[in-house]
Amino acid sequence: MPDQFGKAKLKRNQWIKNLIPGLKIRSLTSADAPELSYLELAIFSSPWSENALRGCLELSTVEGWGALDGDKVIAYLLGQFVSDESHLLNVGVLPEHRRKGIGRLLLDLFLTRCEEKEANTCYLEVRAGNLAAQKLYFQYGFMPVYVRKKYYPNGEDALILVKHFPDSIQST
Ligand SMILES: CC(C)(COP(=O)(O)OP(=O)(O)OC[C@H]1O[C@@H](n2cnc3c(N)ncnc32)[C@H](O)[C@@H]1OP(=O)(O)O)[C@@H](O)C(=O)NCCC(=O)NCCS
Repeated sequence: MPDQFGKAKLKRNQWIKNLIPGLKIRSLTSADAPELSYLELAIFSSPWSENALRGCLELSTVEGWGALDGDKVIAYLLGQFVSDESHLLNVGVLPEHRRKGIGRLLLDLFLTRCEEKEANTCYLEVRAGNLAAQKLYFQYGFMPVYVRKKYYPNGEDALILVKHFPDSIQST
């Protein structure tokens, strides 16, 4: 079954790429921090700084992927792999490029990488009011496990979501 599942994802991702002419995906490095900091400003109310992004991308445990329209990064995802856990650190798509399947494409890529790295679990945190992102995560089998009350600077709660990877669980 994993092969069929992989092929299905590949087919869907190819379909999405065909839908958005010129869309490319590439790995990110710390050299991308300046461009990502502009995306952060356009996407998030509490954006990560260029230094924070550079520091993050310099960690050996962190991997990132950018979706590019020509040379311009229009969306990105950062994930971390520590022991048998993975963490989705950040994912964002520029407002004018939303609802085209790019968020799903990046999440697919990251979760495939989690499987390759034999992660048992993937954690992420999301604002309680961010229903768009939650809908995406729930479609991928993430479940709420914890609420961090008033976690964000505006007093909003954070939901901690987890996804278990069935293949890894079966083998333990
Ligand atoms: C969340 C985000 C990454 C989704 O990216 P996207 O490229 O627009 O998402 P997709 O087009 O791949 O949509 C995938 C699914 O997510 C859900 N979704 C995405 N945006 C949604 C919205 N505005 N309202 C409701 N559901 C939404 C839908 O289920 C959608 O599937 P559908 O189009 O078949 O209904 C994007 O909205 C974003 O960058 N938001 C701001 C940053 C952010 O909140 N990041 C997450 C931090 S935890």
